[in-house]
Amino acid sequence: MFSNSRVSFQFVTILIYITVVCVSQVNSHWWSLATKTLLVGSSSVEQCDNELGFSHSQRQLCRTYANHMKYVKDGAENGIKECKYQFRLNRWNCSTAVNDITVFGKVLKIGSKETAFTYAVAAAGVVVSVAQACKNGLLQECGCSRAPRPQGISSSWNWGGCGDDTDYAYGFAKEFIDARERDTNPSNKSKHKARKEMNLRNNEAGRLVAVRSSEPTCKCHGVSGSCNVRTCWMKLSGFREIGNKLKSKYNSAIEVVAKKRGRRQLDFTPRKRSDVITPTSLVYLESSPDYCVKNRRTGVKGTKGRECNVDSNGPDGCGLMCCGRGYRVVHKQIVEKCNCRFQWCCTVICDQCPSNVKRYVCK
Ligand SMILES: *[C@@H]1O[C@H](CO)[C@@H](O)[C@H](O)[C@H]1NC(C)=O
Repeated sequence: MFSNSRVSFQFVTILIYITVVCVSQVNSHWWSLATKTLLVGSSSVEQCDNELGFSHSQRQLCRTYANHMKYVKDGAENGIKECKYQFRLNRWNCSTAVNDITVFGKVLKIGSKETAFTYAVAAAGVVVSVAQACKNGLLQECGCSRAPRPQGISSSWNWGGCGDDTDYAYGFAKEFIDARERDTNPSNKSKHKARKEMNLRNNEAGRLVAVRSSEPTCKCHGVSGSCNVRTCWMKLSGFREIGNKLKSKYNSAIEVVAKKRGRRQLDFTPRKRSDVITPTSLVYLESSPDYCVKNRRTGVKGTKGRECNVDSNGPDGCGLMCCGRGYRVVHKQIVEKCNCRFQWCCTVICDQCPSNVKRYVCK
């Protein structure tokens, strides 16, 4: 009896262990780096092993590229920030939870178009932050872009000012970010395989949109600003522009069906005949959950308590945002700067004026 219960105790322990490891493997995410404080110096390598958000290969890559992790973190942070900005007026607003290794919660288990956007924007974030780190001389492994002179840049201009190193950043981001999808192999179920493929494609779309946002930028020199001498280089767009581009990719995201081809290959075909998948398409497998009502099972937070805009007919309007449940009016007092005046010399002095504003909040 005693030994029996010990055996079963051990069995249960092992079972719990397996469950914890597997579950964290499936849901944990390198994005969680965004919420962490990175240690610098020798201990940073130690941190690689303790980083619960990393997959097995990502831990190894973290050790090899310890100096890159700051930029992976910055990239994730910028990606998450941009996601929140782009979806601030939507029912799903890209909300994150602190101290959660899944970052966005359970809702990203659903292979929805919102999930697709999140993967893409985070991948784009890493490309941008690594490319800029290269250009700024912050990483030994890379430097100025070596992109050849593009067409349209006159040969009379100097080509090759120090540009964002998108080639290197793309390569690194691919290796690091996609490692997660290659590692986690919870089962051979075709559903999991399809989801991996979805993640890989959206990662790639994000990286490509970032890389392709790179454009020649020139600076004039020459006698008193005559601009007869110019130096040009490749420069990435600001992250807002990349975010806008990805949001429009989200708006035209393509629902796909996974079909087996041979034993290992998986083909994605668009559900709608007229859709054409390109390398920068965002693709998704499942329709979005109902983001209206809090749901523990799906991880949806619901729109109760969200602010809405009574004057808008868009997704932020009280009708759509509150899903027809109606809204409350909240009176709020805010303090604003007012009666600002210039004082010689050289300050601006303002008063603090309270004013009442109405806010509309979903029931
Ligand atoms: C995003 O949505 C969540 C859940 O509905 C809410 O708690 C949070 O305040 C929202 N964030 C913003 C910036 O509106």
